[in-house]
Amino acid sequence: MSLQQLHGPLWTDLLTACDLYRAKAYRVDPVPSAADVYFCYIAYDIDLFEEGSLANLTASIIGNIFGFKAVKALRLEDMRFPYALLKTYQGPACGLVVERERMDKYGRPLLGATVKPKLGLSGKNYGRVVFEGLKGGLDFLKDDENINSQPFMRYRERFLYSIEGVNHSAALTGEVKGHYLNATAATMEDMYERADFCSQIGSIIVMIDLVIGYTAIQSMAYWCRKNDMILHLHRAGNSTYSRQKNHGMNFRVICKWMRMAGVDHIHAGTVVGKLEGDPLMIKGFYNTLLDTKSDVNLPEGLFFAQDWASLRKCVPVASGGIHCGQMHQLINYLGDDCVMQFGGGTIGHPDGIQAGATANRVALECMVLARNEGRDYINEGPQILRDAAKTCGPLQTALDLWKDITFNYASTDTADFAETATANV
Ligand code: 3PG
Ligand code: MG
Repeated sequence: MSLQQLHGPLWTDLLTACDLYRAKAYRVDPVPSAADVYFCYIAYDIDLFEEGSLANLTASIIGNIFGFKAVKALRLEDMRFPYALLKTYQGPACGLVVERERMDKYGRPLLGATVKPKLGLSGKNYGRVVFEGLKGGLDFLKDDENINSQPFMRYRERFLYSIEGVNHSAALTGEVKGHYLNATAATMEDMYERADFCSQIGSIIVMIDLVIGYTAIQSMAYWCRKNDMILHLHRAGNSTYSRQKNHGMNFRVICKWMRMAGVDHIHAGTVVGKLEGDPLMIKGFYNTLLDTKSDVNLPEGLFFAQDWASLRKCVPVASGGIHCGQMHQLINYLGDDCVMQFGGGTIGHPDGIQAGATANRVALECMVLARNEGRDYINEGPQILRDAAKTCGPLQTALDLWKDITFNYASTDTADFAETATANV
């Protein structure tokens, strides 16, 4: 039975300019080393999409098609956006350049940490962690993805004590400091109320989670540009649909959508940490967030050349199970334009949170110096750290404690076109 018989006249070609509006599948390539799996390239007319609306775009692109009985498995690997369509999106509310100017920090990755234990602290204890981490040398502390306004600590208590920690540490160190206050809430009204409070008490940055949805993310990005606030996005939830290779969507597409939506930060992988992260794939995500123009790069999973139409650079955030003993690898894989966040790798330091933060700052600065001096810091990294630790007790303790922590698991989402296998570290 044909579709036309099933659905009647609405399925005929007579009522629209069907030749224009129908999707055009223009190329099919077999996936290397995968039997009976194909890359299918599909083009859509720009008029099918409302300007500046991720909700509209995604309802088409990842809508019903993923549930069609006739389709066993489907994965959205990449998308190229026409310049004209990108111009209808705001892009990052501040972007990398403005963030560095506001922080007054250049030439190195920014350093952060997620407050731990993430659940159960009272406001005052929480603010103490923020103060200690910032005073010890970090640029940012941050809320975790599932800390919102629970009975053990309502959001106003957390916001007030955290900002007290920010201000106190800034006064003592003479540096600009920040804490990502998570404004994620059940309703848009609640989120605006929390974000307004965050702005009133002088925070420079506000945080949301990916699970709030595309429209809410865009709304918060507009709010941030209007209120001169940096917007941090935690990618909570993405692995439920981005991790497996045979169905769902690749995280690089989320990176593109989030840059368009207007977030300034997004968690984008660490390579050496506890979360999924093939080195080549992560490089592709970072380039997607930071490039002004990118070329096709199949080993990194970039299927299309893309001109970013002056959308600002979105800062990739490396977070999840990293520690200062990996600093040479982190700088090598991730570069300078990112935030490196060590949660357990700061707060778990045996000599306290300030000591943990100092270990991270000294490890970062000695490695950036070694690189800038032209040393072979990737191979000499462990020795560079040991030498710096001779005059920094907190770093020595951290290196001793975390020296055996590695996450040697094979990546799930690997490159289809990589010439050599990229082992996780
Ligand atoms: C995150 O939200 O990125 C993690 O909670 C980071 O925490 P960790 O550095 O202790 O793994
Ligand atoms: Mg977390």
